[in-house]
Amino acid sequence: MDGHQDSPFRRFTELSHQYGPVFAMTMGSMPCVVVNDYDSIKEVLITNGSKFGGRPDFTRYNALFAGDRNNSLALCDWSSLQETRRKIARTYCSPKVYSSNYCLLDSISSNELDVFLDSLATVSVRGSECEVQLKQLLLMASANMFIRFMCSTQFEYGDPEFQNMVRTYDEIFWDINHGYAVDFLPWLKPFYAGHMRKLSKWSTQIRQFIMDMVVSKRSSYAKAVAAALDGASDQSRENNDYAADDDDVDEQEPTDFTDALLMSLRKEPGLKMNHVLFELEDFIGGHSAVGNMVMLALSMVATRPHVAQAIRDEAEQVTGGQRLACLYDKPDMPYTEATLLETLRFISSPIVPHVATEDTTIKGFKISKDTCIIINNYEINTSPAYWDNPEVFDPNRFVHRKFGAKPCIRKPEYFLPFSTGKRTCIGQQLVSGFGFVLLAGVLQRYEVKATAELAIPEARMALPPDTYPLILKPLDGSR
Ligand code: HEM
Repeated sequence: MDGHQDSPFRRFTELSHQYGPVFAMTMGSMPCVVVNDYDSIKEVLITNGSKFGGRPDFTRYNALFAGDRNNSLALCDWSSLQETRRKIARTYCSPKVYSSNYCLLDSISSNELDVFLDSLATVSVRGSECEVQLKQLLLMASANMFIRFMCSTQFEYGDPEFQNMVRTYDEIFWDINHGYAVDFLPWLKPFYAGHMRKLSKWSTQIRQFIMDMVVSKRSSYAKAVAAALDGASDQSRENNDYAADDDDVDEQEPTDFTDALLMSLRKEPGLKMNHVLFELEDFIGGHSAVGNMVMLALSMVATRPHVAQAIRDEAEQVTGGQRLACLYDKPDMPYTEATLLETLRFISSPIVPHVATEDTTIKGFKISKDTCIIINNYEINTSPAYWDNPEVFDPNRFVHRKFGAKPCIRKPEYFLPFSTGKRTCIGQQLVSGFGFVLLAGVLQRYEVKATAELAIPEARMALPPDTYPLILKPLDGSR
């Protein structure tokens, strides 16, 4: 890997051409296996997925989650607790179209888009083009969409505490999207003491914000705490610390995700306050992924004006030029959705490493328990074996057109930006919904151009917290 620290996935691909699609390597002191083709990736994630549900025990992951990465949804090992946490999240993260939660997603995303475009109008100059630090604004819009949906509250973009929270999440997102030598060489830990302290500090700051601004204001929080105190003094509740005192509370419908999490403390044995707070923080943190992704999609479009125009044309056709596109327009605007998918393919965002939880095999090769499995989806996203002209950014590759039928999205089975199987991403519907509204909204109002600083990462979803600006020029007729 020497000399390839900045593009490890490209290096894995080169090595796979030399050693085959499944090869073993020891990274520092950690035995790893890299899987590079769809067949073996499918074996790890689906066919044999129950044996690959663990995550690597990186020191950084522990530092971010109060000393125990099992507090985190994405970085914990598989367990019944994880199944419970995923179950609670499902109603809110994957609402069915036309359910009340989907309807809420629609109104929140449109409403926040208006707020975002208003604040963009104050920084862009009427009629002429100007450079805008768009990422910060996109992150704040996305954060408010998540917080409104999950916590029923919202913040002003000018609020310094909100700005600080958004910044801290983005710093974490940037860090987590990187590999460090200490991940594989734990004895380097003393040299990273300052870095680990910084990670713990970020995590504490986020907890403070979420507690002060969201959770502590809830009546369901007070009830959960009271039940916990009650439970602590009652030996008969040893295995169910937060069991309900009165049936009334359990019969109430949660008002939102925060409420559902706090109420689940009284219903789910084994679930502790710390678990639900970390779960809430994890999900709110999803806004960083969405903000970074939309910034990347706009960066792609900035150097490909024909893509921007095709999105505008699609929006014009669906809205009659009378309004901004909304979530319910998504099925009628496949090209816009496809632009986000093509962005994810093109930059090839990586899959979190898995770990074998027992001795097993991949393609007949023996894999020992605790081996770290690196899934090289850079190869399946960029190889000519899977795609025509993979080096060309072309959203049309995801749009299926058939004479007499409405164009629709079609994804090949080997396209796995959100992974698949039991640890698949829980946030994909929120990503495609909020991402769609933001991307379409910006392009309906602005022409977007690149500056000389533009730098698109390879096999990485995160842009640096302080990244390049984009040039915005209001379109004729827009505010
Ligand atoms: C562009 C945005 C995103 C991309 C490309 C993405 C992709 C991924 C990938 C590849 C994984 C790893 C799956 C595996 O290990 O097999 C993952 C896990 C996860 N994602 Fe996302 N994600 C995105 C946004 C989000 C958002 C917005 C949320 C929350 C609302 C979210 C929540 C999660 C969670 C909780 C997991 C861990 C699941 C588990 O380990 O059981 N993601 N995501």
